[in-house]
Amino acid sequence: MRTSLPVLLLSVLLLVPPSSQSSDLTNTTRPVSRAHAELTTYGFPIGLLPAAVRAYSINATSGDFYVDLHGPCRLTLPPDNYLAAYSEKITGRIVRGRIAGLEGIRVRALFRWWSITGIKSSGENLVFEVGGVSAKYPSKNFDEAPVCKGGKRASS
Ligand SMILES: *[C@@H]1O[C@H](CO)[C@@H](O)[C@H](O)[C@H]1NC(C)=O
Ligand SMILES: *[C@@H]1O[C@H](CO)[C@@H](O)[C@H](O)[C@H]1NC(C)=O
Repeated sequence: MRTSLPVLLLSVLLLVPPSSQSSDLTNTTRPVSRAHAELTTYGFPIGLLPAAVRAYSINATSGDFYVDLHGPCRLTLPPDNYLAAYSEKITGRIVRGRIAGLEGIRVRALFRWWSITGIKSSGENLVFEVGGVSAKYPSKNFDEAPVCKGGKRASS
């Protein structure tokens, strides 16, 4: 049996998704960069990273990663509106469902800053590790990448 060329072309066309529309850094209300997409492949919601990511890199073997934001960034984390401070550079090690050795994200609580050192994801929930303590929040609170508060070039 032979396949005619038009039929072959048609099946190729159908197999190729229209990818040009969803390019890396679209500037829509739902800004998803490749770094955000990468988060989801490891089982984490995109809302863990601010919308504005300048660069990122990950070693697929070890899971070591860094994310480069445009500068230090402050935002409030849902649902309790904790003030969070992201450094310009965030590093850690990610495997499916677990981020360890995290550096560069701090939250303000009880009148001081605490470093978030690890995050676990069960899919439904996120568990943030802060020192020896952990706090659990529903993942759905992190479905959107938050936008940094004004003054992203603030020197501090
Ligand atoms: C993204 O949107 C903002 C606000 O509408 C605009 O100022 C900026 O130029 C846009 N950036 C790109 C890369 O389109
Ligand atoms: C990635 O991690 C592996 C394991 O730790 C290491 O052997 C390798 O050199 C790393 N690759 C890069 C490009 O750093």
